[in-house]
Amino acid sequence: MSGINTIRNKKGVEKITAITAYDALFAKIFDAEVDFILVGDSLSQSFGGHPDTLGVSIDAMIYHTKAVCRGAKTSLIVGDMSFGSYQNQSQAVHNALRFYQETQAGAIKLEGGIKRAKIVQSIVEEGVAVMGHIGLMPQFARSEGGYKIKGKDAESVNYLKESALALQEAGAFAIVLEGIKSEVATQITQMLSIPTIGIGSGVDCDGQILVWSDVFGFFDTFKPKFVRRYLDGSALIKEALQAFVQDVKTQKFPTQEESY
Ligand code: KIV
Repeated sequence: MSGINTIRNKKGVEKITAITAYDALFAKIFDAEVDFILVGDSLSQSFGGHPDTLGVSIDAMIYHTKAVCRGAKTSLIVGDMSFGSYQNQSQAVHNALRFYQETQAGAIKLEGGIKRAKIVQSIVEEGVAVMGHIGLMPQFARSEGGYKIKGKDAESVNYLKESALALQEAGAFAIVLEGIKSEVATQITQMLSIPTIGIGSGVDCDGQILVWSDVFGFFDTFKPKFVRRYLDGSALIKEALQAFVQDVKTQKFPTQEESY
């Protein structure tokens, strides 16, 4: 399995690619096609049907990370720390260690800027690799009253830059920049020696990540501006399912060759 150095060494050399996965089946399809697979807490929405990412527990994240690790053997796997699972240093370290003890994940990811830098440092010091996540942080969407693009004013820009530097200093090996004005994401990317992974933050980030159900057109509750759909998955599956139903009703399935 790729390690964090594979990701780190790509900065300034080639773009880093990543996608989310929540199960072994899709992890196997995505494996080796992307640099890393994130078992994102976005599974709360696209897999669990919750309205936001707050509905998933650390036990569920571990369960899905185990499944993804069984499916993918080459790409680095990053497990997401769920909402409420890293409120203080000892709880954060305890839960981060679980990803290494109970799964084959190569790193964990957590949301938060300068205020979470000490937590990141504690986890790194215990020997678990950490990916940061700043900008639009879905775990804060409920308290902030929605999904807000960051980096629109000087205060926000300064906070993002200070946070990025604090996370790098704390030992994060990469940082997800989500929903940040492109020009600010460019400046942060140039400022850091570790890679930035963009989602809705423009083309200059060191890499890009998208949520699999968005990319393949399975999540159609809403489509953020930054999503590019590469497949109309829901429509294709519906069409195939309707063909199966039709074949059953008209007794075209199963044939003799499909029977014992
Ligand atoms: O949970 C997730 O899928 C994420 C990505 C959107 C970066 O955090």
